Amino acid sequence: MHQGNEIHKWRHYFEIYDRHFSRYRGTVVGLVEFGVSHGGSLQMWKHYFGPRAAIYGIDLNPACKSLEEEQIRIFTGDQEDRSFLRDLARSIPRIDILIDDGGHTMRQQINTFEELFPRVEPYGVYLCEDLHTSYWPDWGGGYRKRGTFIEYSKNFIDYIHAWHSQNAARLSVSDFTKTVYSLHYYDSILVIEKRPVEKPDHIKVGVPKVSPLDPPKKPLRQALAAFRQRARTLRTGLRKLLR
Ligand SMILES: C[S@@+](CC[C@H](N)C(=O)[O-])C[C@H]1O[C@@H](n2cnc3c(N)ncnc32)[C@H](O)[C@@H]1O
Repeated sequence: MHQGNEIHKWRHYFEIYDRHFSRYRGTVVGLVEFGVSHGGSLQMWKHYFGPRAAIYGIDLNPACKSLEEEQIRIFTGDQEDRSFLRDLARSIPRIDILIDDGGHTMRQQINTFEELFPRVEPYGVYLCEDLHTSYWPDWGGGYRKRGTFIEYSKNFIDYIHAWHSQNAARLSVSDFTKTVYSLHYYDSILVIEKRPVEKPDHIKVGVPKVSPLDPPKKPLRQALAAFRQRARTLRTGLRKLLR
């Protein structure tokens, strides 16, 4: 059991950390954690990843700076402040893992994601925790409320499927589509695993054994809806062309 400075985490988080972080143990890994508090989690990361790890903590509270030690560097600043985040992104040489355990308000989580996600290594991991604040009004949350981190992150599901979009005006392949391999939702945690992603293709191997079924005829209402969707896509395309 950890004997160092105080750590404050939900009990079920540890299994999730190990599931996504274990491949980095003993390697040259750069880990950033927003939210230092008493510094216990930074010490835990140092112990877990080993002597080649570089650990960076960020906290609004300047007193946290005194918790620096070998392998652990601490920056003071507000994770809602985009210019602070941009400076920070320039000061940290390598980010393999980013953990957001800071103030947990919607703006803090979204700004931190937008400024630092692109800085995470191509095979890195972004983990945002305590997402239950997306349901707590005091943190700016509320069930299905616009602007919460949960609602914001639901768009990620669309982005990784953009390869298959038939509505390019509203959903097309982006950097997110090309750099995110998987999204993992747990209670109060979202883990985003990065990996360069190519346009998916499919293969057929082996001998076909049954003759395909003729597709059932579409009922009139469905055919009409498909026709309207096609007309809408055409109109949007034309409008774009004429602009
Ligand atoms: C939940 S505690 C961090 C706990 C720590 N990671 C651990 O596991 O023991 C949250 C920390 O976030 C810091 N914090 C709150 N708002 C912040 C902000 N806007 N920017 C940076 N840090 C902030 C607080 O000062 C506090 O130390």
